[in-house]
Amino acid sequence: MLPSLSFEVFISLSILIVFTWIYLYPKTKKNSPPSPMRLPIIGNLHQLGSAPHRSLKVLAHKHGSLMLLHLGSVPVLIASSAEAAQEIMKTYDVIFSSRPQLNISSIISYGGKTVSFAPYGDYWRQSKSIYVLHLLSSKKVQFFRRVREDETNLMINKIRSSLGSVIDLSEILLTLTNDVLCRSVLGRKYDEGTLVKQMSELSELVGAFSVGNYVPSLSWVDRVRGLEARARKAHKLFDEFIQSVIDDRLDRNGKMVEDEGKNDGDKDVVDMLLEVQKEQATNDVTVHSDTIKALILEMFVAGSDTSFTSLEWVISELIRHPRVMKKLQQELRKIAQGKPEIVEDDLENMQHSYLKAVMKESMRLHTPLPLLLPRESTKDVKVMGYDIGAGTQVLINAWMISRDPATWEEPEEFKPERFLNNDIDYKGLHYEFLPFGAGRRGCPGIEFAMALSKLALANLVYKFDFKIPNNERVEKLDMVESTGITIHRKNPLLVIATMS
Ligand code: HEM
Repeated sequence: MLPSLSFEVFISLSILIVFTWIYLYPKTKKNSPPSPMRLPIIGNLHQLGSAPHRSLKVLAHKHGSLMLLHLGSVPVLIASSAEAAQEIMKTYDVIFSSRPQLNISSIISYGGKTVSFAPYGDYWRQSKSIYVLHLLSSKKVQFFRRVREDETNLMINKIRSSLGSVIDLSEILLTLTNDVLCRSVLGRKYDEGTLVKQMSELSELVGAFSVGNYVPSLSWVDRVRGLEARARKAHKLFDEFIQSVIDDRLDRNGKMVEDEGKNDGDKDVVDMLLEVQKEQATNDVTVHSDTIKALILEMFVAGSDTSFTSLEWVISELIRHPRVMKKLQQELRKIAQGKPEIVEDDLENMQHSYLKAVMKESMRLHTPLPLLLPRESTKDVKVMGYDIGAGTQVLINAWMISRDPATWEEPEEFKPERFLNNDIDYKGLHYEFLPFGAGRRGCPGIEFAMALSKLALANLVYKFDFKIPNNERVEKLDMVESTGITIHRKNPLLVIATMS
């Protein structure tokens, strides 16, 4: 009995040692960043929880500002300090400029034809330059000024017609950002409810967690959950819609119908893209129609949700901080000089305005994409003295970095004044504050997004005071976050507006 028991104990111990060797002390490189212990098959996936930016903050406190997780079989480097972010996004920007190819995003994005999900290379370079030079340059953003001013006025009138009653400000802000995008991109509004629903579904799917990305042998789970079918359906609906919009601009031979009456300022993004396609063809470069559709899709998905959520959070913070609200109203009254509304001209050349400081402070605390978008290394590289292998995914915890007490005094407090006496901006040059990312893969939509955010916020605050229903104290306004890639308020922002 005894010898056989010892044999069993021996076998069990051996299995345990092998198991520990394989999974707990894996075949990481000699000098890998610290890693939390992981489980077989799923690795550290179970440690992410429903709010990965928060769970990763807890792990970073334990393991350091550069740590290596294993999500299923995928090594994922987590950067949680400005220094780590700078090494990745500046020092080794080229090496970390690719994006992982994710199953669901690939279905939605015409097989990786959006800029955000394209791997680093010629296709990404060419299509990003279409944004930078043709669609989102300062000059082009100016072309859409009238759309922003019109839609902001419509929003103000809508709120004015419901003074004293409870309104869903989240929904009003979502409509504003969608309508501005719809008119800028497609030239007019379409059946609002349907398009908004389609876009919300697409945004949700882009952020949906797909097991197959991390444990390929479990890809069938995504099929059984219906995730892939949902993505194919949403993609098909969008494709049919956008194809009909494009067809309206083409003649029977597939050539663009020239609209002699349209000057540059009247052109929408579809016009601009068709023009780019025509221009490039004369240089023997083909801009495929899937690229055009993918970029249109991307402007909605990347632009609407993020802009809407940043407005929703800033108003929430202002309601909770009446002192800041009053100070901002005073600044805006000075700017408006008694005019009925604030226009973009009034806001130009205000580099150090309180308005801008308020927007920045809100984005510092409520980074719309708290982990930015995942990147991937294309080569072996050494970061902060650690060896990182090619094909490692990278997440930058921008949310944690912008609350780091080593950089920010009283980091959990909403204090816009902190931005008045320094040059810290959101353009990707200050690694302690990265709401739009940085480097080659940084967001090309900053000007487009901020022009609308500043105008809408200025007019909302200039015109109205907001209370929360049932005479609740302002501190009672909940600030619970949603889940997903973009973090919104979990509950809609219900308010009562009065004239200020
Ligand atoms: C408040 C609004 C917005 C926020 C907070 C935001 C944030 C971001 C972030 C964090 C990234 C990833 C950057 C990185 O990996 O370093 C990104 C990428 C991107 N954004 Fe934005 N964005 C906003 C608005 C927009 C708008 C309005 C557009 C276009 C109309 C846009 C288009 C894109 C595109 C195309 C990329 C991918 C860039 C690449 O991979 O090269 N974004 N954005």
